[in-house]
Amino acid sequence: MSFRIQPPAPARPNRCQLFGPGSNAKLFEKMAGSDADVINIDLEDSVSPDDKEAARANTIQAINDVDWGAKTLSVRINGLDTPYWYRDVVDLLEQTGERLDQIMIPKVGNAADIYAVDALVTAVEAAKGRSKKIAFEVIIESAAGIAHVEEIAAASPRLEAMSLGAADYAASMGMATTGIGGTQENYYMLREGEKYWADPWHWAQAAIVAACRTHGLLPVDGPFGDFSDDDGFRAQARRSATLGMVGKWAIHPKQVALANEVFTPSQEAVAEAREILKAMEEAKARGEGATTYKGKLIDIASIKQAEGIVRMAEMIEAR
Ligand code: COA
Ligand code: MG
Repeated sequence: MSFRIQPPAPARPNRCQLFGPGSNAKLFEKMAGSDADVINIDLEDSVSPDDKEAARANTIQAINDVDWGAKTLSVRINGLDTPYWYRDVVDLLEQTGERLDQIMIPKVGNAADIYAVDALVTAVEAAKGRSKKIAFEVIIESAAGIAHVEEIAAASPRLEAMSLGAADYAASMGMATTGIGGTQENYYMLREGEKYWADPWHWAQAAIVAACRTHGLLPVDGPFGDFSDDDGFRAQARRSATLGMVGKWAIHPKQVALANEVFTPSQEAVAEAREILKAMEEAKARGEGATTYKGKLIDIASIKQAEGIVRMAEMIEAR
């Protein structure tokens, strides 16, 4: 390994991020009562231009008044290419107490985008004497975002998480799809006349995971638009989990349980991870770096994999 040790990601569960438009105030109590680890109140693309100011005011009131329990509370501000984003930041930080945890910055294209928001947030925090530093999360959802994903991940110590936004990403890349995530009909391999579907999101997801793991952020899979398709959601979420992502967005409350199901390590997985750790302890006592477990090789790398699963289970239990 490089002498530079991979930094740990924030030690909090991020299995599901439930979104709701800031313009729809009647959803806030329902969001707070959900089983999502993270709540994202949206000021951006689920809010029409005429509703931007009302959504901002509703959101400020909800941050101050609703009991959000132990959830991570985040607000998605408008993009830096709009006239709204600076007022989102200033009003949120001037008019709320300390309950807000995080700001989500959409459509980031390079590290300077983060720098700009950081400068504004830092100034407002200092002016208002806020004691808790606001964290950032970003969405990679453009060609520029994925091309500069590593410099974005390194852009600010405030950064905690990074999501893939499939719909805007597909539009920016010129992909021939209007779906929000999931299997794409025309993305297949042919073998002896049979179609085998591949995953068009794979490269972007793996690039995001690599950037996040390099810089100690949580990699998150974004929205799955067809909320009537539970199996499609599960399949997408399982692929994301397999690649190293820690959670997925819910754009409808019924997706929360699906995300929690996929991103919570199963009891069997945790039990097996503990057995692997025990087997490696015993191997170490014998002076061996590798041994067999259920007929398969396990070695020092297996310890790290198993520890990750156990750590995640303990974090979820502690919540
Ligand atoms: N959070 C919490 N509760 C929600 C919710 C959400 N995001 N979306 C819907 N609900 C509630 C509804 O109020 C309804 O509650 P009720 O049974 O007490 O009446 C119940 O869940 C069922 O809702 P349903 O009728 O199936 O959906 P809808 O037509 O009211 O809303 C959407 C569908 C997609 C418009 C809505 O879910 C939504 O706004 N999602 C978030 C969109 C968003 O934030 N996008 C930005 C990120 S991509
Ligand atoms: Mg988007």
